[in-house]
Amino acid sequence: MSRIWFITGSSRGIGYEAARAALAAGDRVAATGRDLSALQQRFAGTGTDRLLPLALDVADSAAVQAAVDATLAHFGRIDVLLNNAGYGQLGLFEEIGAEATQRQFATNVFGLFDVTRAVLPAMRRQRSGRILNITSVGGIIGVAGGGIYCAGKFAVEGFSEALAAEVEPFGIRVTIVGPGYFRTDFLDASSIRHGEHAIADYAEASRQLRNFFDGRNRQQAGDPAKLGRVLVELAHHPAAPLRFSAGSDAVEVVRGKIARLAWETDAFEALSRSTDFA
Ligand SMILES: NC(=O)c1ccc[n+]([C@@H]2O[C@H](COP(=O)([O-])OP(=O)(O)OC[C@H]3O[C@@H](n4cnc5c(N)ncnc54)[C@H](OP(=O)(O)O)[C@@H]3O)[C@@H](O)[C@H]2O)c1
Repeated sequence: MSRIWFITGSSRGIGYEAARAALAAGDRVAATGRDLSALQQRFAGTGTDRLLPLALDVADSAAVQAAVDATLAHFGRIDVLLNNAGYGQLGLFEEIGAEATQRQFATNVFGLFDVTRAVLPAMRRQRSGRILNITSVGGIIGVAGGGIYCAGKFAVEGFSEALAAEVEPFGIRVTIVGPGYFRTDFLDASSIRHGEHAIADYAEASRQLRNFFDGRNRQQAGDPAKLGRVLVELAHHPAAPLRFSAGSDAVEVVRGKIARLAWETDAFEALSRSTDFA
């Protein structure tokens, strides 16, 4: 059955590849992005019966409902919501200002909430729907130099787990997709943001962090075109999981987190249990 997708951040990277894969699978797509002309160029040749390009900055809460309404007016329904739009605000916590922190959350967290809030009434009416929320390995472990980015991705993980339970009675399934490193523009200067307030104490740590991420740019093991096809498979899968790790590195991170949680829970179990009333 052909499905209707609503994808945020479809002009580049994972969102673009997911849109391409959905079209290749015979689905139809509302491809949203901040730059409408870039979207039109990237999807040139695909008719509006199959692809609806829409301008949407997810941090612009007033624009979100309009984009969802335009999709419903055009295609009549939304079967799959892919919350993909996002960027990495990297840097050591003290070197990132409050405004940059708020901008990160406005896109990666509150933007995702707003889009989900706008799409859910249609999915509830339909009594069916799939929501794929792109988080990250940074939603599983916090790493030095990723505190603000990880905080946002952890927020989306917790939100998605709760939402999954709330909307399951309406036939709506939520899947968290946690990618490892994928070869997109994510670590490129066109996407990534670094801390802007240099602090002498952190100079060496900050330099090492930038070198680490610069060194990984364009070397990531993950292929976004393959992830695009996997997202389509998950959207059609009758028993899609609550949480899916994308990439071998992501699998290792999740296994490491499980092992550490298990070890610490066991090691301190008696002390943990000691706080109950007798
Ligand atoms: N690549 C990785 O290694 C990796 C790993 C873990 C998680 N992720 C997550 O995967 C998602 C996609 O990233 P990517 O790897 O595809 O990076 P990318 O190549 O930099 O693409 C990011 C996409 O998000 C869009 N975007 C950013 N802010 C937006 C906003 N306010 N409103 C609408 N669109 C916005 C960008 O649009 P513009 O073209 O307008 O900038 C672009 O289409 C993100 O949520 C990211 O956190 C990526």
